[in-house]
Amino acid sequence: MTSFEREMKTFKGQKKLVMLTAYDAQVAHILSKANVDLILVGDSLGVVFQGLKTTKQVTMDEMVYHITIVRRGAGAKPVIGDMPAGSFDTPEHALRNAQRFMAAGTAAIKIEGNKPDIVRALAGHGIPVMGHLGLLPQTAEAYRVQGKTQADAQRIMEEARQLDAAGVFALVLECVPETLAQNITRTVAAPTIGIGAGVHCDGQVLVINDMLGMEGEYMPKFVKHYAELGRIIETAVNTFAGEVREGLFPDSSHTYH
Ligand code: KIV
Repeated sequence: MTSFEREMKTFKGQKKLVMLTAYDAQVAHILSKANVDLILVGDSLGVVFQGLKTTKQVTMDEMVYHITIVRRGAGAKPVIGDMPAGSFDTPEHALRNAQRFMAAGTAAIKIEGNKPDIVRALAGHGIPVMGHLGLLPQTAEAYRVQGKTQADAQRIMEEARQLDAAGVFALVLECVPETLAQNITRTVAAPTIGIGAGVHCDGQVLVINDMLGMEGEYMPKFVKHYAELGRIIETAVNTFAGEVREGLFPDSSHTYH
């Protein structure tokens, strides 16, 4: 077990783990000074940053680029790289791509779905792996709550057990009922990190643009706005445009004499 994995295990049942996404150096720098534990370069950047409808088309090269620029701003914070769809089809394929992420500066990687063989292969090469179960945007046909039927809940619980046994250092649970997340959290040794999975997880993650109130039309129930940056930006831009048009900007204090 790496020292990073050992540190992550200390969160289990002890203190809440806080993770946020970042896609660029400037936001990463803000997070480097803030009270968060992990920075995730999520493939959600396909939707948030690139304006795509889903995360399915995000490529390895794009992820490596964003990891590189986030790493530049992230200071001492550990950066987790999200392996994009189609980048971990076999253990060998996963290892080659995970090594690219680690070379770009990640402390660990995240993979979606129940892939214990991939987890074992990467962990065996000293690459810490974060799992991700429940709603899996890389393969989902629709974004809806998972694990609502007993059979589905049992399947997700079994997948969580398998990933835990394979050695994930943490497990993201996305869009599952809170009782299922609570049962998984009680069952697995790895800390669970919820997104739309209720309060009983060992930690929480949100997409930063969502929690800052910058997202577009789609706002899932689990997102809470901690700021309204979208509105603040629009107001600032309109104030700037008005001052330019009225000849009020630049004034003397913003001019070289
Ligand atoms: O891509 C992402 O940002 C994620 C988080 C929402 C967990 O997978």
